Amino acid sequence: MKQKVRSKRKETSMAQREHWTSRFGFVLAAAGSAVGLGNIWKYPHMAGSNGGAAFTVVYLICIAIVGLPIVIGEFVIGRRTQLSPVGAFDTLAPASKWKYVGFLGVASAFVILSFYSVVGGWTLRYTFMALSGNFAELAGNSALSSETFEKFVSSSWNPVFWHLIFMGLCIAIILNGVKSGIERWSKIMMPLILAILVVLVVRGITLPGGMEGVKFLFLPKFSDLTASSIVLALGHAFFTLSLGMGTMITYGSYLERGQNLLSSSLWVVAVDTMIAMLAGVAIFTLVFAMGADPAEGPGLIFVVLPTVFPQMPGGVVWGTMFFFLLFMAALTSAISILEVVTAYFIDQRGWTRARATFIFGSVIGVVGLFCSLSLGGFTDFKTLFNLSFFDFLDYASSKYMLPIGGMLTAIFIMKKWGIPAFLTELHEGIEGKFRIPVRAALVLLSIAAFVVFMIILNEIWAVITGHPLVF
Ligand code: PHE
Repeated sequence: MKQKVRSKRKETSMAQREHWTSRFGFVLAAAGSAVGLGNIWKYPHMAGSNGGAAFTVVYLICIAIVGLPIVIGEFVIGRRTQLSPVGAFDTLAPASKWKYVGFLGVASAFVILSFYSVVGGWTLRYTFMALSGNFAELAGNSALSSETFEKFVSSSWNPVFWHLIFMGLCIAIILNGVKSGIERWSKIMMPLILAILVVLVVRGITLPGGMEGVKFLFLPKFSDLTASSIVLALGHAFFTLSLGMGTMITYGSYLERGQNLLSSSLWVVAVDTMIAMLAGVAIFTLVFAMGADPAEGPGLIFVVLPTVFPQMPGGVVWGTMFFFLLFMAALTSAISILEVVTAYFIDQRGWTRARATFIFGSVIGVVGLFCSLSLGGFTDFKTLFNLSFFDFLDYASSKYMLPIGGMLTAIFIMKKWGIPAFLTELHEGIEGKFRIPVRAALVLLSIAAFVVFMIILNEIWAVITGHPLVF
């Protein structure tokens, strides 16, 4: 009986499943998911505080060795099963525990979107601040800028208000589904993001002293690299590529057969990496030209930049463009996270899109509210490791949940689904004679899984004993 229900559900979901209208639409939507706060907010401040170019090199290696194989793996699983993660694992490995990897993904989506949408709200509020010329009084005054930022994020209702608007926008897009929601908005916002970024890069490198920032970002001094920055770089590779929680499985499940997934994956990874690099250049040229501190940490964007923009001619325009770009990048990622949760309830529970989106968008909105209040607006309540609820969610998802989800996905392909079956699906759509040998796929996936395993082990060891195992 259960089997029957399941296969019936599968049939209907196949027949009614929405698909991307074109390959371009799919690549832009997936790149939209990948390009987000991770590229423009996290990467520059992480590089800034962890040795600049040396961090960039490690990050790029992680993207190539671990990120790319897992992006391909997730797309292939999604297209094969035409289902979001829980159903996908359950279809390829029926009656096994593998579906819990899918559940881990849904849980990660909850965790990530709860804090992500809070920061999304900040970007919206800063866009309006920039537009209304409010940065003027912060010119060159980092103490005041830092105070303004701290006061804003730790107040009660103001950040919550912006967070709820941001969640509302996510819900509105996801309600419209794959084609007229996700794909349509990605097609509008992604080209805009790129265009604004290019303008900001040109502005940055033509400022006197701006090239110092480019050198900082691209000329590595490996003595600056610390052990913990390697763990950070790996976790960030997962975060920035939206890996390890089934986002790419979900987006892959809206693909019709016959598309070249290898080149689509390369495009997504290339666009994500390119935008992170461009954002780094845009930001560090400004920071160096204006003599600000590159190692400011998470406040780099919200504290340093508002002091820098008003010192430039046309600062209101540059500042508004920058924060609007950041907001759009955050939105195209946030919708992909909400879609993972929504798709689970549609695919596995037979809910309507409207019901799933409203209910879970609202639940995440409420969890996010506590997340925002944990930054000082309500109590100084600390969770495990003495982190605020906000920092704890970020820490748990980037350092553990995503890497573990990604590692298990790689192991699943090797041990359960089988590389030959995986390659048959991947090769569908690749024209000509190009075929990846089974052994090469095995080596690549094993390396990816092993690297993640070692790094997580090292991290857990360091947390327990106080000093790392290997480095
Ligand atoms: N990739 C997004 C970013 O860089 C974040 C994200 C993580 C989106 C996980 C979806 C899933 O900001």
